[in-house]
Amino acid sequence: MKATITVLPGDGIGPEVIGQSVTVLSKVASKYNHEFMFNEALIGGVAIDKTGSALPPETISTAEQSDAILLGAVGGPKWDNPSAAVRPEQGLLGIRRHFELFANLRPVKAYPALSQFTPLREELLSDVDMLFVRELTGGIYFGPRKEQGASDSAYDTELYTVNEVKRVADVAFRAAQGRRKKVSSIDKANVLASMRLWRKTVTEVREELYADVEVEHVLVDACTMYLMTRPRTFDVILASNMFGDILSDEASVLAGSLGMLPSASLGSGTFGLYEPVHGSAPDIAGQGKANPIGTILSAAMMLRHSFNLEQEAKAVEQAVENVLASGARTADIAPRGSSYLSTMDFAQAVIEQI
Ligand code: IPM
Ligand code: MN
Repeated sequence: MKATITVLPGDGIGPEVIGQSVTVLSKVASKYNHEFMFNEALIGGVAIDKTGSALPPETISTAEQSDAILLGAVGGPKWDNPSAAVRPEQGLLGIRRHFELFANLRPVKAYPALSQFTPLREELLSDVDMLFVRELTGGIYFGPRKEQGASDSAYDTELYTVNEVKRVADVAFRAAQGRRKKVSSIDKANVLASMRLWRKTVTEVREELYADVEVEHVLVDACTMYLMTRPRTFDVILASNMFGDILSDEASVLAGSLGMLPSASLGSGTFGLYEPVHGSAPDIAGQGKANPIGTILSAAMMLRHSFNLEQEAKAVEQAVENVLASGARTADIAPRGSSYLSTMDFAQAVIEQI
């Protein structure tokens, strides 16, 4: 097949991990006879520096002419001034919203071989395999707001419509049907009106269309505990934009390193944005210490969800597992004092496995 991919390296370690994932995708293209075209564009802090905007119009038009986006990370101390009018994060929020990518898929698996990097006992980690479905274009991230300005107050609003909850719940239930048939829906229905709407809508969606899937409604505060005390009981976790953001970072400790985790942001069609869950890590940028796994696995998700290339996606995922099984490690998952592969060498090992 032929596909055009918009590549948005962004800031910090973004360019390093993206560069490696592009070589992995090129390897997939040559091995399986596909043609991938890569078009690079600006987003985040680098975009602010060069154009004054975190999401320049040229980036939007490049992305509009492509089949999928591969994104590194945005942000860094250079642009962190609290009174700055433009922030790198606006680029990311803007592109999610522009393409209405309302469903953010974040799979989290525990790798028993990396259990020494988690604060949990190894026995809690076996069979941990969950998928976060995070609502991504609504809620408090996009609700009515007021900046402080010259006044002594500021606010953000958590606002959800039935339709916004329905469409993301659909994604979660359908994913659960292909997995262990359980959805844990996270809310704060004991306090928040928006979350009572959330719970009621999720219940109705299940009753109407997905009676074969078990649903549990979990209050977000309790969920933070259960992720640590009974992680293997979670299959699909459906959460609002804000709760999903927080909980998926918490769950990442189960995997051993934030650097391992991929994500896909999808709308109603096949177009998607793929990015690692980790941030721009400016403290280690340019040193070959970044873990490319999260981005490589995001590229695998692109093959699966945007291009319907399941075999190729599996080949990439298997290659990553094989390299890890061989004992190869990146800096973040290497035992103290032991040697590790650079970002590039780890990716090369993955390519050899493919
Ligand atoms: C994430 C990030 C973003 C978010 C930031 C960088 C805007 O934390 O993708 O999880 O909060 O969604
Ligand atoms: Mn986050």
